[in-house]
Amino acid sequence: MAFFICSNCGYGSGSWIGRCRDCGKWNTLKEQPAFETKSKDKNEGVKKVTLTALIKIKSQKIVRLPSGIYEFDRVLGGGFVPGEVILLTGEPGIGKSTIVLQSLQKLSPIYFSGEESAEQVKDRAERLGINFADFLFSNDTQIEGIIESIENLDEKPDILVIDSIQTMYSKDIDSSHGSINQLKEVTKKLIMLAKKTKITTLIIGHVTKEGEAAGPKTLEHLVDCVIDFEGEKVSHFRLLRANKNRFGPTDEIGIFEMRENGLKEVANPAVFLEESTDIAPGRATVGVVEGHRPLFFEIQTLAVSTALPVPRRVIKGLDYNKTLLLLAVIKKQLNFPLDKYFDVYANVIGGFTIKSTASDLGFIASILSSYKDTPLPKNSLYIGEVGLQGEIRSVYFENKIIQEAKRLGFEKIYSSANLKNVKDLIKIFYKKTFEK
Ligand code: TYD
Ligand code: MG
Repeated sequence: MAFFICSNCGYGSGSWIGRCRDCGKWNTLKEQPAFETKSKDKNEGVKKVTLTALIKIKSQKIVRLPSGIYEFDRVLGGGFVPGEVILLTGEPGIGKSTIVLQSLQKLSPIYFSGEESAEQVKDRAERLGINFADFLFSNDTQIEGIIESIENLDEKPDILVIDSIQTMYSKDIDSSHGSINQLKEVTKKLIMLAKKTKITTLIIGHVTKEGEAAGPKTLEHLVDCVIDFEGEKVSHFRLLRANKNRFGPTDEIGIFEMRENGLKEVANPAVFLEESTDIAPGRATVGVVEGHRPLFFEIQTLAVSTALPVPRRVIKGLDYNKTLLLLAVIKKQLNFPLDKYFDVYANVIGGFTIKSTASDLGFIASILSSYKDTPLPKNSLYIGEVGLQGEIRSVYFENKIIQEAKRLGFEKIYSSANLKNVKDLIKIFYKKTFEK
């Protein structure tokens, strides 16, 4: 039986189709040779398994190579691990190449860039005040050539950088640069090289805001560590966060500020708030702990009457399914008809993503405020996880957030300490704010 596989994304189909059902590309389905059972004897080609008694294994001590940037090292779990493959993702222009360059100062790297010339990289290094003793650079982008060049080096570099994975290609795959099949093949080859040579490998991957299923996200399960670099070009703050880490924690974050001369570490608990302090409907400030640090973000939501049979939910920076759950809680506990008659738009200011559930209460407060078209009290802060019954739960390190919030001058702090249920939220605001 004939079988067809998309050369862009690997989607399989039993019949030929002009347009791939998965990635939507035209004319990419190619017929594959029929599957054959190689041998009739069921024992032929079966590989013997080797069993090892774990107790006899000597535990290995990981020697890490510090990047020299405290915030970066903390996210990595103490520095780069030899042979580790790291995927650094972020939007184009957010500062990935900059942070990587800054993190290589104490190492001897080999840097493959399909994006910038040697002159550009050198200029930037000079502007950043980085003095490289051992830095090898190349503009070549064929993975087989890259691997050969590294295997032939007399002195092994500490770290291999690929900037970016989208610009690299393998001669063994005939789909275009940046296609999923190319990304996977190049990454697999890099992983094999890293495991064999024990060279730390840092792969830079661009992702767009929509998260594009077709991008480097599909590589996450292959690599050891996935680090996201978040932020918005209009804002100076950047967050570095490990989403997966085989050699370190996944709850640490690094905070940076983009300056004229590169990224500077931010040591204090950061406040990612808009400068304008105007109060407006739909704005709420939340306090959360990420890693071990209290952080403050602004959530903005809009609840507007819909013209669609199924209302729209556009959520940026918050967990989509959790926000749907919270909308259901609002409907059930407060009986607001958000489910049928209102589109909901939500956004975290600054292009950040809030992972902590401590933002639940603030999200609900902001949506009530938008729905009622009345601002929340000035200088108020919301901290709390919300359960299915609308109950407000205390969160991890709540006291630490409250302490910091007081220091920053928040006047009214709402949390499980003074609210039991989202119904209480309405009581407070209905009387004191909404119906003023
Ligand atoms: P870059 O590291 O090239 O982004 P990416 O590799 O993620 O695409 O950073 C690009 C932006 O950062 C660019 O718009 C200018 C800004 N930038 C600074 O503000 N200060 C600096 O010192 C540097 C090097 C860049
Ligand atoms: Mg770059």
